Amino acid sequence: MRQIEETFLIKGGTSLNGTVQVRGSKNAASKMIIASLLTNEPCTLENVPLSDELEITKELCESVGSVFEHPRLHEVRVATKEVTTPIVQILSRKNRIPILALGPLLHRKGLAEVPVLGGCPIGHRPINFHLAALTQMGVKIERRENSYYAEVQKEIKGADIEFPFPSVGATENVILAAVLARGVTTIKGAALEPEILNTVSMLRSMGAKIEVDEGERTIRINGVSSLRGTKAEVMPDRNEVVSFAIAALATGGKVFIPGVEESYLTSFLEKVKDLGGLVNIRDNGIEFVAGGKYQGTYIETSPHPGFMTDWQQPFLILLTQAEGKSIIHETVYEDRFGYTKELVRMGARIELGLECPERNSCRYLSQGYSHVANIFGPTTLRGTKIVVGDLRAGMAHIIAALSAQGESSISGIRHIDRGYEKIDERLKRLGANIERISI
Ligand code: EPU
Repeated sequence: MRQIEETFLIKGGTSLNGTVQVRGSKNAASKMIIASLLTNEPCTLENVPLSDELEITKELCESVGSVFEHPRLHEVRVATKEVTTPIVQILSRKNRIPILALGPLLHRKGLAEVPVLGGCPIGHRPINFHLAALTQMGVKIERRENSYYAEVQKEIKGADIEFPFPSVGATENVILAAVLARGVTTIKGAALEPEILNTVSMLRSMGAKIEVDEGERTIRINGVSSLRGTKAEVMPDRNEVVSFAIAALATGGKVFIPGVEESYLTSFLEKVKDLGGLVNIRDNGIEFVAGGKYQGTYIETSPHPGFMTDWQQPFLILLTQAEGKSIIHETVYEDRFGYTKELVRMGARIELGLECPERNSCRYLSQGYSHVANIFGPTTLRGTKIVVGDLRAGMAHIIAALSAQGESSISGIRHIDRGYEKIDERLKRLGANIERISI
C-alpha cells in the first residue's frame, strides 16, 4: 500500500473523449474474497481491481492464514486450507470489511475477533443490524475497546431476520453466516445490490443454497454442511461507470464504456436523460454523450434499484452546470454532503437543508441532519486546492476540477486510491490533464 502522500494536479477545461475500460467492482470483490474463507479449497477470482480496498482485504485474510497467488493481472487465487487464528487485530478503522469475516471465522473456529470498522465519514454507520442478526443466529458478540469478539453459543442456526432498512453490509453478513448454518435463514427487507448478487452467485457455485426473491426483497438460505472451491468473475464496477460517464458529460465530451449491463444502472441512465445528456445503448456497452445544455432535476438516493447514494457526489457536479434549481435528497446516509463546502469555494451555488422535500419524507425527517442539497445553476467552477475527505466525494472533486477553469490540486488521494485503480492514468487516456505528484 502507498505510504507517501500524493496529490493530483489537474488543469480543467479539456473534454474527455474515448473508450474506457472499467475495472471489477471493489464492493463485490472484497466480499467475494471474504466468502472464500468459508471453504478450505482454493477459490479463483477474475476481474479483481487493483485498488487499496482489495489490499486491505487481502491483508486481513493473510492474517488468518489465507495464501494468495496472482496468476494473472486482475486474477486472484486464494486458499485458506487452515484458519491459523480467528483473531484479527490489525486493520482497525481501515474499511468496512472485517465485520463480514465474523461468519466465516466462526464457522471455521467457533470464535472470532475483528477490529472496529472505518470507511468513509458519511454518517454514523452503526452495525446494530449485523450484531442483532448474528445474535439471533446463535452467536454471542461482545464489543471490546477496539474490536468485536464473537463466540458460537451452541451452533450457528438459521433464523428469520427482518431488517428495518435494506443494509448492504448486514445482508452480506447474514448470507455469509447462513450458508453453513443449521437450517433455514430468511432475510426480509434484504438489500439486493447487484454486487451482493455477484457474491451470491459465487456462493452458489461453491454449493450454497440461496434463493432470492427480488419482488419481495427476501433472501432464503438453506444451510449446507460444507462448501467447495470455485472460480468466479467479479462484475464491472458501477461506480466507475458512473464516474467516467459524468466526467465526460461534465466536460462536454463523449465516452464509450464496454462490457456494462444497462439493467444495473437504470436509475442513473434515467437521470442522465432527464438532465439532457445522451445515452446510447450498444450491444457491447454504453456510450455517454454530453448535451449542449442541461436542465435541473430532482434526485433521491435509495437502495437498489434506486439511485445509488455513491452516485450523488459526482452527479452533483453535473447539476452545478444545469439550468435552474436541482435537489438531491440523500435518504441512505444522514451526513453525506460534507464535500459540498469545497464545491462552494469553487463557485458552485449549493444550499444544504435539514428538511425533506415536500411529499418526499424519509427516515431523516426533522432530525436535524443536512441531508438535502439544493443546487442552483449553471455556475462556472474555478480551480482551487482541495483536501479529499472520502472516496466518492474525492471522485466528485476530480470531476469538478476537470470541468473547472484553471488549475486545482487535490490532496488526500489515498481515499480515491482505495476505490479506483489508477484513476489518473485512465482519465489521462481520455484526454484529462491530470498529474500525480508526491510531496
Ligand atoms: N445501517 C444501520 N445499521 C446497520 C447497518 C446499516 O443503521 O447495522 C444504516 C447505515 O447507517 C446507512 C444505511 O443503513 O445509513 C445503509 O448502510 P449499508 O449497511 O447499506 O452500507 P455499507 O454496507 O456499510 C455499502 C458500501 C457503500 C455504499 C453502501 C450503500 C461497501 C464496502 N460499502 O456500505 O459504499 O454506499 O453499501 O449502498 O460495500 C463506497 O464504496 O464509497 C461506499 C461508501
